[in-house]
This record gives sequence, structure tokens and C-alpha cells, in this order.
Amino acid sequence: MPTARSTPNIAFIKYWGNRFDALRIPMADSVSMTLDAPTVEIDLDHAEVLGVQSFASDGSERSLKEKDIARFQKHLDFTKRYLEHLGVPNAIPASVTITIRSAIPPAIGLASSAAVFSCLARAYQGLISPTIALTDKQTSIIARLGSGSAARSIFGGFTALIAGEGDAIDSAYGEQCAQEKHWPLHDIVVVPSMEEKTVGSTEGHATAHTSPFYPARITAITTRRQQACVDAVLTRDFEKLQAVAEEDSLDMHHVMETSDPPLQYLSGETHRIIHEVESLRRQRHLPVLYTMDAGPTVHLVCTEEAAGAIRDFAHAQKDCQVFETKVGGGAHLV
Ligand code: PMV
Repeated sequence: MPTARSTPNIAFIKYWGNRFDALRIPMADSVSMTLDAPTVEIDLDHAEVLGVQSFASDGSERSLKEKDIARFQKHLDFTKRYLEHLGVPNAIPASVTITIRSAIPPAIGLASSAAVFSCLARAYQGLISPTIALTDKQTSIIARLGSGSAARSIFGGFTALIAGEGDAIDSAYGEQCAQEKHWPLHDIVVVPSMEEKTVGSTEGHATAHTSPFYPARITAITTRRQQACVDAVLTRDFEKLQAVAEEDSLDMHHVMETSDPPLQYLSGETHRIIHEVESLRRQRHLPVLYTMDAGPTVHLVCTEEAAGAIRDFAHAQKDCQVFETKVGGGAHLV
């Protein structure tokens, strides 16, 4: 029975909106840094019927909603469809039991679905290894079928989600741009609210197309931003990374807020923290950037030299929880 371990990632160019919702095939490329914490572990085994259990880090069981179980069932069905496509239809003969141990508070903008589905994909890779040796690219496709951004956490360091072309199940996949040791960046995560968000990203992706600003977003990413971001990572150009990552995060939220129905993930606290970070870095010339996913949580990504000051800043925020992370190694079997 394999056990896999994985972590979230933080996107610099955000994945928002699909060209094929069911298979989570994105409209555009994205790029992220895989984090080293908090971790998710999954034990996986063959079974007659699907069983899913989830535990918090203190060992207490987390009750799963019907829609969570349905998501794992759907992911298993798509995984089997992909394995059929790879010529091994019997690699998973019936179903599986999935045991999750997660140190991530659910739904607070800390990419728990990315950690869970990258972890699960790695565990599937281990489970079916007697039948087929999946490559990392193939494993990233299995991760993507559960959560698009999960395809990026298969790899450590800095990873792109390549949108590809067409609607085939394997048309979009994760691809590593640079390894973990390439650039030791930190992500100090400031969480203003531990309340669970009401609209998850799966529902959100489906409304992206309704924003009048969505086509311009896709054009900006495909013609300019994705390449600029990858270049900034490869050349360790923090100023360039900051400019493109902040532009893209704010642009994604602009699309969200102008969608039908509008999605408002950022709070007054988010905006206050952003403004304070801007003035802090102006005063002290700190290499730090902010970026927000589908929640009010602010990710402060910074270089090693700025980490101390950013940590102090984060802990000084009233009524906020802080998670300290840095670039990590991606999903692996333990
Ligand atoms: O993987 P999903 O479906 O949870 O989508 C993630 C979307 C964002 O976190 C908002 C952006 C990203 O690229 O991680």
C-alpha cells in the first residue's frame, strides 16, 4: 500500500478558467512555486468500493461532505479513463480506499486541493507501479483531473501548467521550469480569516468566461506574462517576477469581481495588508511580492535576505494567522 506526501504551490501566473471544465483543461498556461509546507499524506489501496477518510494533524477525523466524496469518485473515474487511454484499463480493477492526513486548514486560500490531488496522483502512481511506470508528466495529468493547479505540485521548485491544445484528456500537463535549489524563495502566508469560503475554485472557473475582461487576460498571459514570468524565474530577476506576478494576481481578481455572478475573494484586510507591504518595501527596498488566490489570504513571496523582515511584518498583523513556507520538493512517495 503506497503512501505519498505533498504540499500546496503558490501561482505567480494564475490558472483561472477552462476551455473544457469537466477535464479541467485550462484556457492558458500558469506558473507556480511549490511550497515545502503544510503537508498532506495519503495512503491508498485497492478496494471493492470507494472509501475516503480524512484526518487533521491532531488525529481528529474531518467529516467529508457528499460533494467531496463525489469529487474523489469522479477523479477515480477520470483516472481510469486516462489509464485506459494509456493501454492499461485494468490497472485499477475496482475501486480504492483513500486515507488523507492533512495539516492544511481547508478552504482558506492555501491551495489544499492542489496538495491533496497531487498527493493522490503520486499515490496512484505508486499503486499501479506493478502494471505501469508512469512518468511525472503522466502523473501530473492525473493530478490535474482532480484540481488543475495540482498538476504543478507534482514537481518541486518552479513549475508551469501547460495548457496545450485540443480537448484530449492528456492535452494539458505540468512541466518543471527550475528545481527547488535554483532560487531559495520564501512564502510567508498571512491569513486574515479562517472562515471557509463560500464559492470554491471549481465553481469559479466555470464563470470566468462571463467577465468582459477575460479575453484580454488570456491574451496577456499567452502573448506576454507567462514567458516573462518563466524568464524572471530562470534569471532570478526578482523585480521582474514581482511586476508580472502582482499584475497577474490583481488581474485575476478583477476578472473574478466582474464575473456573473461576481466573486469577491479579497477583503478589506487583504487590501490593508497589500498597502502596508507596498509602503514597507518602498521604505526598506525589500525584495517582496504579494499574490492572492481564491481567498483573502496574502502570500508574501520574498528572497532569503528579506525573509526576516517579512516574517516580523506578518506576525505583527492583528488577528491574522501566519504560515511560514519556502520553496519545496513536490509530491513524492514515502
Ligand atoms: O486547482 P484549482 O481548480 O483549485 O484552481 C486554482 C486557482 C487559483 O488558486 C486561484 C490559481 C492557481 O493557479 O493556483
